Amino acid sequence: MIYRNWIYQDILKISEIEKECFGKGAWSFQMLADSFSLDYFSGTVALDNDEVVGYGCMTFNGDDADIGNIAVTENYRRSGIGNKILEHMISDAKKHNMQKMFLEVRVTNAPAQILYLTHGFKGLYVRSRYYPDGEDAIVMVKELS
Ligand SMILES: CC(C)(COP(=O)(O)OP(=O)(O)OC[C@H]1O[C@@H](n2cnc3c(N)ncnc32)[C@H](O)[C@@H]1OP(=O)(O)O)[C@@H](O)C(=O)NCCC(=O)NCCS
Repeated sequence: MIYRNWIYQDILKISEIEKECFGKGAWSFQMLADSFSLDYFSGTVALDNDEVVGYGCMTFNGDDADIGNIAVTENYRRSGIGNKILEHMISDAKKHNMQKMFLEVRVTNAPAQILYLTHGFKGLYVRSRYYPDGEDAIVMVKELS
């Protein structure tokens, strides 16, 4: 497995995994491509034999990194790829001198919450009806300094 920063050619496969993982809430190819073009964007992909099987992305705002998404295609889950993607992102945020990392996660998404807790994220507060289907989000933060 190889972990590296996104290149433009990765985005089509990333948009397919988005759809598989997030359905109606998925970012489209265009939304991903627009984000990718921002100066303060950072994306990580996991590649198996040159094929994207997982990814994460974040933006840098002042001293804070805000995670947009992390996902691993279903057949590849529970083999440590989510862990490695998150490690790559934390290391990248530190290289950019970010002080904190923030994210939102669905209150029902136990696998993702466990992943984040394992990496030192802590729950801050709940955002009511944050998602389009009305589900609440937990806002989590990790101190990087
Ligand atoms: C969350 C997600 C990215 C984890 O990816 P993954 O590659 O399966 O994660 P890993 O194999 O690296 O697991 C890392 C740790 O997370 C926790 N974890 C991951 N999936 C879990 C599950 N289904 N149940 C319980 N704990 C889980 C475990 O602590 C695991 O460590 P362990 O395997 O040593 O017990 C993946 O489940 C996914 O893509 N989900 C759909 C998209 C999503 O919800 N993204 C998060 C949006 S906020």
